[in-house]
This record gives sequence, C-alpha cells and structure tokens, in this order.
Amino acid sequence: MSTDQAKKKILSIVPEASHGSQAPEAATSRESQSAEGDPVCPLCFGTGMHVEPGKGARRCRCRNQDRRAILLAAARIPRRYGHCSIHNFENAGEEPSKYFALGEADRLIKEYPVEGRTEGVGILFMGPVGVGKTHLAVAILRELIQLYGIAGLFYQSGALLKEIQDSYNSISQSSELGVLAPVFEAEVLVLDELGASKPTDWVRDTLLQIINTRYNDKKLTIFTTNYLDERASEKKETLEDRVGVRLRSRLYEMCKTVQIEGADYRKKLARQAR
Ligand SMILES: Nc1ncnc2c1ncn2[C@@H]1O[C@H](COP(=O)(O)OP(=O)(O)O)[C@@H](O)[C@H]1O
Ligand SMILES: [Mg+2]
Ligand SMILES: [Zn+2]
Repeated sequence: MSTDQAKKKILSIVPEASHGSQAPEAATSRESQSAEGDPVCPLCFGTGMHVEPGKGARRCRCRNQDRRAILLAAARIPRRYGHCSIHNFENAGEEPSKYFALGEADRLIKEYPVEGRTEGVGILFMGPVGVGKTHLAVAILRELIQLYGIAGLFYQSGALLKEIQDSYNSISQSSELGVLAPVFEAEVLVLDELGASKPTDWVRDTLLQIINTRYNDKKLTIFTTNYLDERASEKKETLEDRVGVRLRSRLYEMCKTVQIEGADYRKKLARQAR
C-alpha cells in the first residue's frame, strides 16, 4: 500500500481491544503454572490473596512482584538498554546538562503519583548522539513500572511507524489495532528517536494522531530526539522541520524540553575498553 493510501486509513481504537501480556491482570493466571515444590508464600500460602485484619482481602505482595516482572517484560525495552537506571547514570559534575537531566528524570519518577503535577506532562530529551537520552528515558520507564506497577512501553518511533505501515499490508484486519492499542493505552510510553523517519505527510499525521490521543488521555510520554530547535547551520534540519510545526507545538504543551549536551558516552566506553 502506498503512503497515500495508508494516509487515508483512520487510526482508531476499540476499548475492548485485547493486548495480550500488556493486561495487568495477566499476573493472576500465573499461579497455576508454578511447579509443585516451589516455595510457598508465607503470607497467602499460594492463593495470591490474604486478609488484612479490619481491612479485608488484599492482593498479596508476592503477586504484585510477579505482576511487575510481567509488565517489565512486556515493555519491549531493547536488551541493549536493559541495564539503564537512574542509579548508573554518571554525570561527573563536569557536565551540568547531564546533571540537570538526571535531576529532571528523578523528579518525574518521584512526582508521578502526585495528582495533577506529572499527569501527562513528560520529558523531551534533546541532544546529539550518545549523551544518554535513551538511557534516561528507559530509566524512567523501568522505574515507573517497578515502583507503581503501571503498564509501560518502549518504541523507537521509526519502528513503530513501520509496524503500523506493515499492518496495512497484512491480511488480518485487526493487526493495526494490535499495534496501536498498547501504544494508546500504556500509562507511560517512550518514543525514542523522534524525527528519525523521513518526514512524509503520512509520517507526520500518524505521529500527530498517536501523540494527540495520548495527550488527550493525559498519558505520560517520554521522547528522545537527535534534532534541536535551533538551526545549527544552514543545512541542518530542526526538530520542527522533521516532525512539522503542529507536532512540535503539541510537544511544547505536553513535555518539558530537556537538552543534554556533552561527550558521546559510547566513545568514552570505547576508550575505556582499549
Ligand atoms: N551518563 C551516562 N552514564 C552511564 N551510561 C551512559 C551515560 N550516557 C550514556 N550512557 C550509555 O552510553 C550508551 C549510549 O547512550 P544512549 O542513551 O543510547 O545515547 P543517546 O540516546 O543520547 O544517543 C548507552 O549504553 C548508555 O547506557
Ligand atoms: Mg538514543
Ligand atoms: Zn503471597
């Protein structure tokens, strides 16, 4: 299907769309699978529920841990970034923008549950390659899943667009929703490398629609991009050139822009390895 045809397709979502392991309740079905002889939880004796005197039945702590592990596995964090945490983000103090960015990541994680403060307001990490944008975005995603047990998702924006476009070509009608439902519904989404795809009208419209849907639902989105707002030179494109003026202005509303400067950490790692 050409991008023009694809453009005419309307992105929509049905509320009952199932999203497999994304569903938080997936954890409850795990109990029956545990092999005989596994250590039995002393709180719930393997039932998953325990009674708190005066309060009633509660989901047991052991199930919450199970559930978080499932949510984390469902978040599609690339293995390369599996280690990323705010605790192993070095900022040596010599690079103020990294120090500031880490502080912003930390603040967002801590404030997440405070009604009306971080609700829907994410971060746009902006800066050159290798300064740790994806590292911090993944760190936030992981931490929010682990701390609050919410559903989260990582996507490279180019990979997401490709999956959507591929779904138009497939025989199955539901596959487009299969791709989009988790993206719309995740409590926190990392959209990595915004602006990396060739900016066709379809790309801009599709991104705008995804981001608008999440914005309207007050869902938190964390973005990274290698493009800046200022034109570094005549030839260099800005983020606005890449994603369009409407999307850039929407991003202003729904994100705090955090620019990271400094050395490419990958080069530092390579030097250390020598
Ligand atoms: N300040 C840092 N402390 C620890 N590791 C870092 C730091 N900055 C980057 N890295 C690591 O360097 C690699 C490249 O960083 P990445 O987040 O992919 O950069 P970017 O997304 O800005 O291009 C990753 O493995 C990341 O974990
Ligand atoms: Mg990156
Ligand atoms: Zn238990």
